[in-house]
Amino acid sequence: MGRLSWPFVPGSFPIITRAEGAYLYDDTGRPILDAAGGAVVTNVGHGRARVAEAMARAAKQVSYVVPPFPTPERLALVDRLANDWLPENLTRAHFTSGGTEANEAAMKLALQFQQAVGESQRTKLVGRSISYHGTTLATAAISGHPLRRRGLESALPQYLEVPTPYPLRAPEGLNSDLLGSFYVDQMRALIEAEGADTIAGFIAEPITGSSGGAIVPPEGYWPKVRALCDELGIILILDEVMTGFGRTGLDFGYQHWPIQPDILVAGKGLAGGYAPLGGVFTSERVGAAIESAGYQVMFNTFGAHPSACAAAVEVLSIMTEESLVKTASDAGDYLHAQLQAAFCDHPYVAEVRGRGLLAAIEVVSSRVDLACFDTERSVTSQIVAEGLARGVFFYAGGTGQVRDVICVGPPFTISRDQIDHLVATLKASVDTVIERMA
Ligand SMILES: Cc1ncc(COP(=O)(O)O)c(C=O)c1O
Repeated sequence: MGRLSWPFVPGSFPIITRAEGAYLYDDTGRPILDAAGGAVVTNVGHGRARVAEAMARAAKQVSYVVPPFPTPERLALVDRLANDWLPENLTRAHFTSGGTEANEAAMKLALQFQQAVGESQRTKLVGRSISYHGTTLATAAISGHPLRRRGLESALPQYLEVPTPYPLRAPEGLNSDLLGSFYVDQMRALIEAEGADTIAGFIAEPITGSSGGAIVPPEGYWPKVRALCDELGIILILDEVMTGFGRTGLDFGYQHWPIQPDILVAGKGLAGGYAPLGGVFTSERVGAAIESAGYQVMFNTFGAHPSACAAAVEVLSIMTEESLVKTASDAGDYLHAQLQAAFCDHPYVAEVRGRGLLAAIEVVSSRVDLACFDTERSVTSQIVAEGLARGVFFYAGGTGQVRDVICVGPPFTISRDQIDHLVATLKASVDTVIERMA
């Protein structure tokens, strides 16, 4: 180890010197299939020279100017988002340097909105039991991710937590609609016990990211949540940092249900991993109220960085020109079919789940009673390490009650052959680790 230890907690990772399409290459030239697209980020794939060129052009023209100043790249990004991506009800944009900052901004906007409209008693925010929204104290606190809060618990602000739907371990005998009600009824009861008129906003991922491993809620859940938020005057913040921009086979994850958010949060796929960028998009009602009240929506120094906006414009152009949302949907169908074929009766895999190109398997010690492996066995880490040794990068997921989850979220351009290789390697990695433990 050198004088300066980096990563902060050292690990043994290969040095990646090049990336192209769905592959990373280490310093020996060894290819690694990027089955997770990094942290489920690289939607358009690696090595798109035109994105790098657009970033370089932007940097040559205006290296930096404070975020509220328009630049051609910022204006082009806003136009493209409005014309091609965002639903009509979202009319205001704020850009950050990533998902955490964007969620933190969204939480603040919900609070500011309630103050602006005279609901000054609405000072609380609600999160969910299995979730991830970021690394700051507030976003970590509202996340249902015990693993990422360790050592901080005593200093974290308290947020009300309602259950994340988790159909695999839900009570038996409820059809999809009743199951949706089951979770929303609990949410209502917890919010009413807290005092519904003290709640400013509710934040959730439409389909969970790595915290729960692509958990898809029952059909009736989201429309009922939307109705509950409307009834109780609560701002609905949808965290689409992982699910946005085609990942689940539609532009945004929430579009699998007939709902719209008051605030939508984006990151990762917005600039496809080429640049750090997050976005917060609000309804006019929210934006206009905050504006009228004269509240500041303070920028982050590197929010809407000109080169990052240029990257996003180019990435979103590629998405449209190559119809990559449709590609993600089709490749997703193929991926799920192959994962199902490999794991549907696997004795140690409880379920394959997800939508589009966001998928996960949950590994258990018994498929019959869904018992988990002991935490000390670090099954997820072992499987991810085994995959990497075999030349495929998977993303470790799970936390708390969702113990061992392996996430898959490849570039949308992944081929059928590469998906076959991914699934075969995942199966071999799971089997090897289980055999080794036995
Ligand atoms: C759903 C979700 N929200 C927020 C974040 C945090 O984003 P970032 O790591 O860009 O700060 C992540 C990152 O994994 C995420 O998956």
